[in-house]
Parts: sequence; structure tokens; C-alpha cells
Amino acid sequence: QAPRSYRIASIPADGIGPEVIAAGLQALEVLARRDGGFTFEVAEFDWGSERYKSTGALMPEDGREQIKDFDAIFFGAVGAPDVPDHVTLWGLRLPICQGFDQYANVRPTKILPGITSPLAGVGPGDLDWVIVRENSEGEYSGNGGRAHQGMPEEVGTEVSIFTRTGVTRIMRYAFELARSRPRKLLTVVTKSNAQRFGMVMWDEIAAEVAKDFPDVTWDKMLVDAMTVRMVKDPKSLDTIVATNLHADILSDLAGALAGSLGVAPTGNIDPERRYPSMFEPIHGSAFDITGKGIANPVATFWTASQMLDHLGEPAAATRLMRAVEKVCADGILTPDVDGTATTQEVTDAVCEAIRSEN
Ligand code: NAI
Ligand code: MG
Repeated sequence: QAPRSYRIASIPADGIGPEVIAAGLQALEVLARRDGGFTFEVAEFDWGSERYKSTGALMPEDGREQIKDFDAIFFGAVGAPDVPDHVTLWGLRLPICQGFDQYANVRPTKILPGITSPLAGVGPGDLDWVIVRENSEGEYSGNGGRAHQGMPEEVGTEVSIFTRTGVTRIMRYAFELARSRPRKLLTVVTKSNAQRFGMVMWDEIAAEVAKDFPDVTWDKMLVDAMTVRMVKDPKSLDTIVATNLHADILSDLAGALAGSLGVAPTGNIDPERRYPSMFEPIHGSAFDITGKGIANPVATFWTASQMLDHLGEPAAATRLMRAVEKVCADGILTPDVDGTATTQEVTDAVCEAIRSEN
């Protein structure tokens, strides 16, 4: 029987993106060789800020067309010190997420063995969450404008868009995901006291969708109170769903509470599988450590594991995470998580753990 073959579009882009994507691809290669049941065919796309500086665009006009038939997208980070952040974000990552309707942004967070949370007395097992971020509309729908630019009477608007279709589909996704996890526990986050329209609609739709999931326990939190609960009572949370903006912020907090942004992964998922989904570390291009060889590759390994799950290779996905957890537990860690190892040393250790596991 021929091995299953997956076509991956790799977009390392800027800063430490190429460093961590190279690490992730090495681990995937070792996994495929070890497993024997599947292979990868990787095509690299040199899109990003350098391309912007030489051509005026981060990706080609027909960029999405070029990658739409791949099985998945493996993305590094985008952002350069000398290009405005709204240009880089809207020039590459958001056109892919929105154009491919990757409406579910899934962000697992847990404290890996060997990694210390900044929360006193909180260790592995005490914090094990998945944050589901609405990824297609809300506060980041790009709806707004500026009038009278530079004048004293200048106006800027940034209008959130919440649609019944958009909210219902993310809510259903979150309830399904909560149901698939042992605790079957979902927290719905809004700000429906101060924001009386879109957010109240979220709450109403949550209650409607909940009726189809009688086996899932759910509760509601206001986003400000949620930050307190994440810090004070992390064990009380499991699956979390929130809007594009709220979940963006909460998941950075989650990453920090789990020890470092350098370990936090994310999947931009099209649950209907009409388009390729995109897998990336949560972190950005980290100018402060670019080129030093010390970027933490764990977030990228973890998102590679999410990608394997999505592709239908759960055994390899689990094997990769077991290897990462072993290496972390052995103390082979980069400086952001209080270690002294380099990106390559962590990567070599993970590859070795994959090879030597029985
Ligand atoms: P950042 O995530 O790049 O860095 C924040 C801090 O975390 C820095 O001190 C950095 O050294 C550290 N850090 C991040 N990833 C790490 C890793 N793998 N290993 C060790 N340390 C790590 O966020 P920042 O500094 O706010 O943004 C830098 C650039 O990245 C900006 O241009 C921003 O727009 C862009 N960005 C892009 C994202 C993406 O492509 N998805 C996400 C976030 C920011
Ligand atoms: Mg963010």
C-alpha cells in the first residue's frame, strides 16, 4: 500500500519564523520516516516583509490561488521593524485566514512538564485549556475608516461585525470541541454588559446552541472577569470560546501563564475543509532574538502536531507531543523558559526522542 502523501505549503516569512519552521519541518520529516505510513511534500513560499520591501506586496496577487490545493499551510510569523504592523498583518496572514474562511482559531494551552508557570503553585495538570477564537469577523472584520485625516476633527471608526451565521458556527465548533474533551466544560466569554448588541446576541446564540449539547456544562464570563479567573483559578476552566479580539488577548495571557509565548500553538481551521487550514505558533517574529538561534521551537512542534491531527494522523500527532514533553521534562529548554539550549539542540533532542521511542 502506497503511503499517504500530504502536500504542505510552508510560509516561514519573517524574523524567527524561518528558524522555527525549519525546526518543525525537521521533526515532521523524522516522524514520517519513523511512521512509514505517510510522507510530506513541502513547497516553500518566500512571502513576507522582504518581498514587500522589494515588490510592494507581501504575497503575490494570486497567492491564495497558488496554495489553495495544498493539504495544509505551515506558517511562521510576519512582521518587520521597518514595516507598519497593520501592513504586514493585513498583507499576508489575514488574507489567508479570511480568504480561506478559517473561522475557527484553536489555541491549546497547557503547562508542559519541566516548564514553570509564573503562577505560584500551578503545575502540569492545573492548567489545560483550549481557547477557540472566532477568526473571520468581529472586531477584526476590517470594517471602518478615517475621515479628515490629520485634521483636528479627524474621525476613526473600527466597527465590529457579528453575524448570526458567524456566531452560530463558532459556537457549534466550540461546543463540539468541549464535548470531545474529558471534562466537557465550556466557558463562553463576552462583554455583554457594556456592549449591548453584538455581545448580547453572542449570549443568546450560546444558549440556543447549548440546547443541542445537553452533555456539555457551560457558563458565561465577562472578559475582564475572565482574566482574573484565568490567573486565580486556572483549574476551573477547560474549553473557552470568545470573539476575535477577546480571544486574541486571552490567548496571549494563556501563553504567558503556561510559561512562554514560545510554547503556544494555534490552528486556523476551516472546519468544513473547503480550503487548507493554517498552522502557526502564536508568537510573532521576535526581532529581539532573531538570528541568535535561541527561538523556542516548541510552539511550532505543537502546531505541527495540531496539523497532523487535522490531516488525519492522530498517532503521529500524539507521538510528536510525547517527544516534546519528554524533552521539556529532561530540561532541554531554550532561554525563554529558563533553559540554556539552542533551537537546534531542542530540535535534535525532539527528533531523537521520536526515533528512539518504542
Ligand atoms: P513577539 O511574539 O514577536 O515577541 C514577544 C516577546 O516574546 C519577545 O520578547 C520575544 O523574544 C518573545 N518570543 C516570542 N516568540 C518566542 C519564541 N519562539 N522563543 C523565545 N521567545 C519568544 O511579539 P511582538 O514583539 O509584539 O511583535 C514582533 C513582530 O511580530 C511585530 O511586527 C508583530 O506585528 C508581529 N507579530 C506577528 C504575529 C504573527 O505572525 N502571527 C503574531 C504576533 C506578532
Ligand atoms: Mg495576538
